[in-house]
Amino acid sequence: MRRMILAVLLALLAPGGHAKADNFPSRQITMIVPFSAGGPTDAMARILAERMRTTLGQNILIENVTGAGGSLGVGRVVRSPPDGYTINVGHLGTNVANGAIYNLGYDLVTDLEPVVMLPSNPMVIVSKNAIPAKTLPELLAWLRAKPTPPTAGTAGAGSGSHIAGLYFEKVTGIKLQYVPYRGTAPALTDLVAGQIDIIIDQTSNSISQIRAGTIRAYAVTDDKRVESAQDIPTTDEAGLKGFHMTLWSGLWVPKDTPKDAVAKLNAAAVEAMNDPVVRQKFERLGLEIPRKDQLTPEALGAWQKSEIAKWWPMIKAANVKIE
Ligand code: MLT
Repeated sequence: MRRMILAVLLALLAPGGHAKADNFPSRQITMIVPFSAGGPTDAMARILAERMRTTLGQNILIENVTGAGGSLGVGRVVRSPPDGYTINVGHLGTNVANGAIYNLGYDLVTDLEPVVMLPSNPMVIVSKNAIPAKTLPELLAWLRAKPTPPTAGTAGAGSGSHIAGLYFEKVTGIKLQYVPYRGTAPALTDLVAGQIDIIIDQTSNSISQIRAGTIRAYAVTDDKRVESAQDIPTTDEAGLKGFHMTLWSGLWVPKDTPKDAVAKLNAAAVEAMNDPVVRQKFERLGLEIPRKDQLTPEALGAWQKSEIAKWWPMIKAANVKIE
C-alpha cells in the first residue's frame, strides 16, 4: 500500500517539482480584478469569466482587490499558490507601468506567468459637460486658461488612466491635478456629476456615458476611429497628431503554475474570445479582440516586455510621487 501511495505521489510530481494539474480545474477559480467593480477591467473580466466557466466546467469568482493603481491586486496573485486557481486580470497599467512607479516587492515579469492577451481599446479624452468646448482644440484652450491645474480622474498612480494623463501632459504641456479613485467607474461617476474636469479613460468605460450625452468626448487616442463609436474623431483628426495609446489587457498566473493549467486557461479564454456573443459584447464596448498569433502565452510575455521598454522611460521621467 505504502509503495502504491508513493508511486501515485511521484506520478503527480511533474518535472520542476510541482504537482501536475491533470484534473485541472477540479474546483472554483478566482479572478482577481485589481480595480473596483463596474469599471472597464471588471466588465471585461466578467464577460470573459461567464463564458470560460462553460469550457472549464468550474465556477469563476471575480474578486475586486483594489488600491495603489492595481498593484495590491496583482500582489495578491503573485503570493497565491501556483496552481492555476488564482488569476491576475491586468493591463498596461498594472502589469507594466506599476513596475516603474512602485516598490512592488515582486517582479512583474519573473514572478508571473503570462496566460493570454485580452481585448484592447484606445483611450478617449472626455470632459464634464459644463466645459464649454466642442472640439479638442477648444478643450485644450479651456484647460490652459484654467487658473488652477485641471482635475483629471484616474484609477490611481500607475493605472491606465494615469499613464494616459502623463502622456497627455507630455504632448500638450498642460499640467494636470490627478484625482485618484479605486477604479475609473467611480471616477466616471464624478465626471458625470461635474466634480472633476476630464478623464483620459478607456473607451470601453466611457462609451455608454458618451452615448447618453452625460459627458463629452473629444478624441480617441488612435489613428483609426473605434468601430462602434465612429462619431468620435481620432487624435490625429482632432489636432493632437500622434497622441496614440492602446490600453491592452491580459491574464497572468503565479510563476511555476503547471504548464497544462496555463494551457487550459489559455484555451478557455481563446474559446471565449472566439464566441460570437462574447465578441459582440466586446466590440460594442469598443474593444478589439487580439489576432490569433497574439493569443499564445509567449506572445503576451513578449508584448509585456516590449511595452516595459516603451513606457518605463516616460513614466520614470515623470518622477511620479506616491502620496
Ligand atoms: C485604469 O484606468 O487603469 C482602468 O481603466 C481602471 C479600471 O479598470 O477601473
